[in-house]
Amino acid sequence: MSLIKPHGSDELNPLFVYDSDENEALQKEAKGLPSIVVSSATAANAVMLGGGYFNPLTGYMNKADALSVAKGMKTTSGLFWPVPILNLVKDAGSIKAGTRIALKDPNIEGNPILAVMDVKAVEEFSDAEMALMSQEIYRPSPKEAHPGVEAFNAQGKVCISGPIKVLNFSYFQEEFPDTFRTAVEIRNEIAERGWKKVVAFQTRNPMHLAHEELCHMAMKRLNCDGLVIHMLLGKLKKGDIPAPVRDAAIRKMVELYFPPNSAMVTGYGFDMLYAGPKEAVLHAVFRQNMGATHFIVGRDHAGVGDHYGAFDAQVIFDKEVPAGALKIEIFKADHTAYSKKLNKVVMMCEAPDHVKEDFVLLSGTKVREMLGQGIEPPKEFSRPEVAQILINYYKSLEK
Ligand code: ADX
Repeated sequence: MSLIKPHGSDELNPLFVYDSDENEALQKEAKGLPSIVVSSATAANAVMLGGGYFNPLTGYMNKADALSVAKGMKTTSGLFWPVPILNLVKDAGSIKAGTRIALKDPNIEGNPILAVMDVKAVEEFSDAEMALMSQEIYRPSPKEAHPGVEAFNAQGKVCISGPIKVLNFSYFQEEFPDTFRTAVEIRNEIAERGWKKVVAFQTRNPMHLAHEELCHMAMKRLNCDGLVIHMLLGKLKKGDIPAPVRDAAIRKMVELYFPPNSAMVTGYGFDMLYAGPKEAVLHAVFRQNMGATHFIVGRDHAGVGDHYGAFDAQVIFDKEVPAGALKIEIFKADHTAYSKKLNKVVMMCEAPDHVKEDFVLLSGTKVREMLGQGIEPPKEFSRPEVAQILINYYKSLEK
C-alpha cells in the first residue's frame, strides 16, 4: 500500500537540488548573482520548501496569493494553503522582476548562500495590507503584544516572489544531524518501516508525562503502527527551552518509555510563528507531506500568552478548513493530566466526576521555577530522567 499522498500533488516535489553537479553549478553561479541576506523567517521557509514540507509550492508567494491565503486560506489558483509563505524585505534595492538572485542565510556566520531565486515580482504591501495579514494569520488578542506579529512586521513590507532552488538546509543538518529530517526522508523512513497508520506529534517543548501519555493514547485509539515526534528546531521566543535540550529530553523519554521501534524522534527547521489555529493547519499540511496519516492537536496548540482559546486550534479544522482540503486526519485531544483518583493520565473530559483538585496541574511558570531551583516536579507530572536533563540545563544557565 502506498503512503498518504502529499498535499496538492501526487508526488512530493522538494525544492532542494539533490543532483550534486547541478547543486555545485548553481552555487558557483550564485556567487556572481545579486544577493540579499533574507530574514530568519524567509530562510526557514526556504528550508521547509527545500525539504518538501511545503509541497506543492514552488517558491515565495506574490502579493495577490499572500492576501488571498491570509484571507481565505487559498491561493489565487485555488490551492488550499493556510499561511502566506513570503520573502519579505525592507528594501529590495536594485532587485527587479526577471532577474535571478541569491538568497543568503542570516543565521550562519558569513551569510552563505541558501538558495537561488528567479524573481517574478517585487511588490510592496501597504500598511493596511500588512495589518490585515497580521490579523488574519495571527488573530492576536488586542490585550497583549504578540511575538509572531512582531517578528512578521520586523521583516519589512516589500515582497519578493518567485520560484526557488534550495542549495542546503541552513544550520539544521549540521547542528541536529540525528534529528533534522526532510519530509522526503521521513516519508522514506515510514515506507521502510512498513508503517501504514502514522500519527505525528508537533512539539516545541520538552515532553512531560501528559504529552507522553497523549501520544500513547493517540497511538492506541487510532491503532497506529507508529508515532513521529516532530519537534521544531528553529527560532523560539525568549525563555523557551533550546532545541538541543528538548531533543535530549525527548530522546530519553522515548528510549525509556516507548516500545522499541514505535516512535521516530525527528525535527524540522522552521521558526515558531505562535499563530495558534492557523499554524495548526500549516502543521497538518506539512505532516501530510511527510507521510503522516494523523496529526495530534491538543490544548492551546501553537499558542502563546492568552491570545487563543484552549481549543481554537481544533475548531478551525471543523469550521474553516473545507471538507476534503486535507487528507491527513486530526486527532483532537482534550486537556490531559494525571488523575490522583485513577492514578494515571487521562483526558479531563473523560473523567467527568473529577474536580480540579483531583488532577496534578502545574503551570509552565511553576514548572520552570521548580526546575530552575533544581527541584524535580512530582513524578505524576515529569519523568525523573526527563526532569534531570532540564534541571541540568537550568543549572548551566547560572554559570
Ligand atoms: S506547541 O506550540 O508546539 O503546540 P507544545 O510543545 O507545548 O506546544 O505542545 C505540543 C502538542 O501537545 C500540541 O498539540 C498541544 O496542543 C498538545 N498539548 C500540550 N500540553 C497538553 C495538555 N496538557 N493536554 C492536551 N494537549 C496538550
